Amino acid sequence: MRDAPPSRQPPPRGSARRDARRPETPPRRPAEDGIPPAAVGRRRASGGTAAAGGIATAPATAPAAGVGPRESPPPAGAAAPSRGSPAPPSTPATPRGCGATGIELAFEGKRPLADIEAGRRLVPPVDVDWGRPCLIYGENFRVLAALLNSGMEGRVDLVYIDPPFNTSRHFTAGPSRASTVSRSADGDVAYTDRMDFPGYLEFIRERVVLLRDLLSRRGSLYLHIDCKVGHYVKVILDEVFGPENFRNDISRIKSNPKNFGRKAYGNRKDIVLFYAKRRGSNIFNDVTACLGDGEMKRMFRRTDVRGRRYNTVPAHAPGETAAGRTGGGWRGMLPPEGRHWRTDPAELERLDGEGRIEWSRNGVPRIINYADEHKGKKIQDIWDCQDPQYPRYPTEKSLELLDLIVRQSSDAGSVVLDCFAGSGTTLVSAGRLDRRWIGVDNSPVAIESIRKRLGAAGYAFHDLSRL
Ligand SMILES: C[S@@+](CC[C@H](N)C(=O)[O-])C[C@H]1O[C@@H](n2cnc3c(N)ncnc32)[C@H](O)[C@@H]1O
Repeated sequence: MRDAPPSRQPPPRGSARRDARRPETPPRRPAEDGIPPAAVGRRRASGGTAAAGGIATAPATAPAAGVGPRESPPPAGAAAPSRGSPAPPSTPATPRGCGATGIELAFEGKRPLADIEAGRRLVPPVDVDWGRPCLIYGENFRVLAALLNSGMEGRVDLVYIDPPFNTSRHFTAGPSRASTVSRSADGDVAYTDRMDFPGYLEFIRERVVLLRDLLSRRGSLYLHIDCKVGHYVKVILDEVFGPENFRNDISRIKSNPKNFGRKAYGNRKDIVLFYAKRRGSNIFNDVTACLGDGEMKRMFRRTDVRGRRYNTVPAHAPGETAAGRTGGGWRGMLPPEGRHWRTDPAELERLDGEGRIEWSRNGVPRIINYADEHKGKKIQDIWDCQDPQYPRYPTEKSLELLDLIVRQSSDAGSVVLDCFAGSGTTLVSAGRLDRRWIGVDNSPVAIESIRKRLGAAGYAFHDLSRL
């Protein structure tokens, strides 16, 4: 059975502010933002603390506490001022933006920023037309440095990276994608994910420093990582981007529930850390999610005489407006104590004229919203997008996940960069959404997989492995 159509019982027009009366709706508290503040540790009172694994926290002003001579080899691809020479004496890094928390992560082999920047300047520029999508075979520190030295500084709107997670594993890919992508020793090794932990952190940090410089003022970085190393990487990103530019720590549901034997909860999620180059200036297209059928029915419970599903919301919203028309009178009423009209009284008048205000028997106005005009719901920070069941490449990510990121944080014509491209999921997404893209990987297996996936046309291929 259908509900009765929205009733309209407008009170008599009239209404000076002086004789305005208030409808009898009790004030409500404003809704709260569901996103918790970034979890950031506190600065230690007495300098840095050495810890197992060569990791420590240190005040931002102190030199990298506890860092002795490098014990681990320089991370693969890390650019030293001159190759083969010992690392320069450790001077305090000047982390970007760590001032707000006063925290920086200290670990063995952490290079001063000036050294990273000097190292990147040693890489020669390359003659590449960045106006076309580009697939690059090469080591990504050097390729990113070459990009910076070849006019791409500040030109990239979106970076998505899914680096190795320091799992101590070999990732292999066999000839048939359906059955033989595995983490065993069989098949061709696509890439090896084995570094000492401080070396791994520095590997990520050095690349993130360059990626930040490649980003435009409207740019964003999304870094995909797991829960074992993600919290260290978050501190590094805060240093490089500034904690004020942290936007979200997105929990990505990656698998169905697991029944572990170990004494812990099942791990179903990994993390995507989202930073803006400059908070507030970042492209954010307010992509929304569609309501499911059940949600639609729950949210829009009533149906009008034409069969349109609808719901209503009070014509007023929490919060008082001291000066301004939404605090004033409409049809002889003021908004209830502690509230203001949702929209200008002239707009309420227009809505009423269109039959989009429902009046209760005692004259309380509510605005009618139709389900078929609903713009979708705000996307929250828990995403359920699982990776393909039969990946063509180990650790291949969900195309749905990449589509959301690309649509949300870039525009048509933007440059989208993934320098851990793997099977090219980011590049596929960027291409089909009319973005320009740059993909980099140093694994021949990855490059082959991308070329199979994209075909040979529509992009330039560059072998920069000898850069
Ligand atoms: C986790 S996979 C990325 C998977 C990708 N997101 C996908 O959807 O297929 C990480 C990739 O980073 C590449 N990689 C690791 N270190 C690299 C480096 N220094 N330079 C370039 N690529 C690197 C590996 O070869 C591997 O293909």
